[in-house]
Amino acid sequence: MLQDSFERRFSYLRLSLTESCNFRCNYCLPDGSACDNKAAELTLAEIKQLVQGFAHAGTTKVRLTGGEPTLRRDLCSIIETVRATDGITQVALTTNGYRLNKDIHQWLDAGLTALNVSVDSLDADTFHLVTGQDRLPDILAGIDRALALGLQKVKINTVLLRQYNGRSLSSFLEFVRDKPISLRFIELMQTGDNGAFFKTQHVSGQSIISQLTAAGWQLMPRLANAGPALEYAHPDYLGTIGLIMPYSDHFCDDCNRLRVSSTGQLFLCLFAEQHQNLRHLLNQDNPAAIVEFLQAQLQFKPFSHQLAKAQTGQTRQLAMIGG
Ligand code: GTP
Ligand code: 5AD
Ligand code: SF4
Repeated sequence: MLQDSFERRFSYLRLSLTESCNFRCNYCLPDGSACDNKAAELTLAEIKQLVQGFAHAGTTKVRLTGGEPTLRRDLCSIIETVRATDGITQVALTTNGYRLNKDIHQWLDAGLTALNVSVDSLDADTFHLVTGQDRLPDILAGIDRALALGLQKVKINTVLLRQYNGRSLSSFLEFVRDKPISLRFIELMQTGDNGAFFKTQHVSGQSIISQLTAAGWQLMPRLANAGPALEYAHPDYLGTIGLIMPYSDHFCDDCNRLRVSSTGQLFLCLFAEQHQNLRHLLNQDNPAAIVEFLQAQLQFKPFSHQLAKAQTGQTRQLAMIGG
């Protein structure tokens, strides 16, 4: 199993399939910021070799991200290929939900095991203001369809934004009352492109925790290999509420993930200063060479990001690297 110099173990690959996105979320891709590298995207054959290499190194879970990964026409083949890789037991997708309602059954048939959908507001007008899209009803119908088709692991991502959803906790709680999903509030992270927006919109997740605790929500025990969210449960609600608070202490202590961009760059951290090209290893049918490369690079993985010091590295926006 891959291990870094702080004895953290890495069994989780977050693979971005494309930088392209059909949404323009105001916190991610503010007006005018371009994000597209289509011609250089990894091919299905390269993805196969990449995932075989990671699986050889002990990776069991792969999350497909973007940009918007569902814009890849070969998404079903990618899901199938990843799922068929020896050692990979979980294939997850993070999506803005644009194609969810129409395509979820195909993704499940291909072998998808988990789904995260971004929903920053449950109010259609506010949703439009944040994302530039009118599709909220269709996205919510897609979430219901995923549940109806029996998908056990469905999560919603909501980026906390002072002006847009900072006072909407009660509507989100109502939403999870009868749905077996985990809704996670993510603290807005400062990127190279969203500095001014961050200054006015960032809210600490602590304010949500205080409100949850006052309403009887309780922190759930942390499972081994848990993700970044602190999860809260309440006996009257089927769903749970998570908080992803990258600005809090200890956020990176048990980091278990590595990232590869859509063009085959290894990122040791979401806000890494540097990235390493591993594309030259993806046409050799030699998973052992990929393992060796990863293990060598991991010695340079920093203990934590430097977000609180506002050093956002080269990460202009998370669409480049997949959140
Ligand atoms: P699962 O546990 O597999 O559901 O993964 P996740 O919660 O990390 O998945 P998702 O893609 O929905 O990520 C949610 C968001 O959490 C990401 O987009 C980031 O905003 C944030 N996040 C996830 N991992 C990290 C990390 O390593 N560092 C930081 N700073 N933020 C992260
Ligand atoms: N801060 C916090 N979350 C972000 N996301 C995108 N950009 C940011 C940011 N600057 C979220 C998206 C999606 C997830 C992959 O990352 O809303 O849910
Ligand atoms: Fe696209 Fe996701 Fe960025 Fe929104 S947050 S613009 S859906 S990549």
